[in-house]
Amino acid sequence: MLTELPAWKALENHWRAMQGTHLRSLFAGDPARAADFVVDAAGIYFDFSKSRTTRDTLPLLIDLANQCGLAEHIQAMFRGEKINRTEDRAVLHVALRAPRGAGIVVDGENVVPKVHEVLDRMAQFAGRLRSGEWKGHTGKPIRNVVNVGIGGSDLGPVMAYEALRHYSRRDGLPDQVFRFVSNVDGTDFAEATRDLDPEETLFVISSKTFTTIETMTNAESARRWALARLVSEAAVAKHFVAVSTNAEAVSRFGIDTANMFGFWDWVGGRYSMDSAIGLSTMLAIGPENFQSMLAGFHAMDEHFRIAPFAKNLPVVMGLLAVWNNNFLGADTVAVLPYDQYLKRFPAYLQQLTMESNGKSVTLAGEALAGGTPAGGSADYQTGPIYFGEPGTNGQHSFYQLLHQGTRVVPCDFIGFAQSLNPLGEHHDLLMANMFAQAEALAFGKSKEEVIAEGTPDWLAPHRVFQGNRPSNSLLLERLTPHALGRLVALYEHSVFTQGVIWNINSFDQWGVELGKKLANSIVKELQNDKTPKPLLQRYRQLRKA
Ligand code: F6P
Repeated sequence: MLTELPAWKALENHWRAMQGTHLRSLFAGDPARAADFVVDAAGIYFDFSKSRTTRDTLPLLIDLANQCGLAEHIQAMFRGEKINRTEDRAVLHVALRAPRGAGIVVDGENVVPKVHEVLDRMAQFAGRLRSGEWKGHTGKPIRNVVNVGIGGSDLGPVMAYEALRHYSRRDGLPDQVFRFVSNVDGTDFAEATRDLDPEETLFVISSKTFTTIETMTNAESARRWALARLVSEAAVAKHFVAVSTNAEAVSRFGIDTANMFGFWDWVGGRYSMDSAIGLSTMLAIGPENFQSMLAGFHAMDEHFRIAPFAKNLPVVMGLLAVWNNNFLGADTVAVLPYDQYLKRFPAYLQQLTMESNGKSVTLAGEALAGGTPAGGSADYQTGPIYFGEPGTNGQHSFYQLLHQGTRVVPCDFIGFAQSLNPLGEHHDLLMANMFAQAEALAFGKSKEEVIAEGTPDWLAPHRVFQGNRPSNSLLLERLTPHALGRLVALYEHSVFTQGVIWNINSFDQWGVELGKKLANSIVKELQNDKTPKPLLQRYRQLRKA
């Protein structure tokens, strides 16, 4: 039991002893704090000096990691053991970015050659499409690419497309248009295709299972939309490709499996953006940039696998997340990228973190109390709620609560030293805001300072900032494909670290099943004019009107 471990008890005592200590005094009492509370590795400067920790905290957290067997768990993942026990699967997104020639064995087979075989086919296809050699059914080159997928088959591709837009130019050719359709709401499809010419449009149908109702419904609509203009069924081969693990369902849909890019059951949906699910990313940025992104992922994988815990970025980040969650009692985390290209990064992280660690049953099957309806015996919280917006927009929206609300919201600030679009003083101003927010959260502003500025007594309490609000700052040189790979892998492995401490399965997602099943039965109920449910009756009446 996690809460019975000696390291957990030691952390509880440690927290009790330091709980009232303000970050102001931690900095005042330790002049080297800002320089020392840093992990500088794999091209990421990770400053955790503004976390509510002392020099004793990280060693105690590392004791906890050791008592939870983190090192063995990491090795088990990299060895291809079936650590996703509830689905009896290996968890090997790290194999997707292993270099050619590496060896990772699952069920007696080295999977790395298979990974590179698919990457090579993707690169070949991307080359033909990007150069204009691949033509549509009527002989026009493809100008528009529409990815149809949802969850991990959408959020990774959208996030990476937006993040790496700067790299999506083609030499001497006009920009291609990329669209992403995920929602089963017909508006998503209609708006994504409204201004596109079917003769110049390629659909990438991305679904690991090829059974997800939203994706299949959108894919059928895409086929109808394309064939309304292109008429002949033969056009499907030129305008549809599939990314899936399910070849049978792909060919049943009518897509030639020669135009299918596969992956495997050991790739979880939310860990799949660097598998064939990244096809739209590769089409946008080209195979070389895609390879560079994979190399970035791999650099972080190797760092995670090898570095000692005290200097291991994902481990330190994951342990601090546990500290904030379970000892400070914070139930949310704000992810605040100070880079417009990362505008979809928080949405991407929501699936990665919350689908992975939103669990209330341990690997041993015992229910966690943690204040949830599960109401079990082991009493600790698991995954927090993630949200965020790019800076500085968030500052003019929800930061009020971060600074003066009653809740503690740990923040991850993410910034780059070099702008991809240098424009006057914009970048320094942007980054000055990022640095300033972290300082304001940590140090606040006391009543004395407020009054010394001439604020009347009655107004002073409203203008006080308590401070002592924790944050991490992540600084990278420049947003490149390689940097994006390192950043995403950092969060992936931090999520893994947290899941190991909480003794949960970070790799299944049974929690999304019930709603899916109910929707399928309710869709039938909607045809029944005798439905006893008042809400459905009202829907039927209004729908007719
Ligand atoms: O939301 C549940 C889920 O299974 C995700 O884990 C997954 O990313 C998404 O659905 C899409 O699944 P598929 O790629 O099989 O269509």
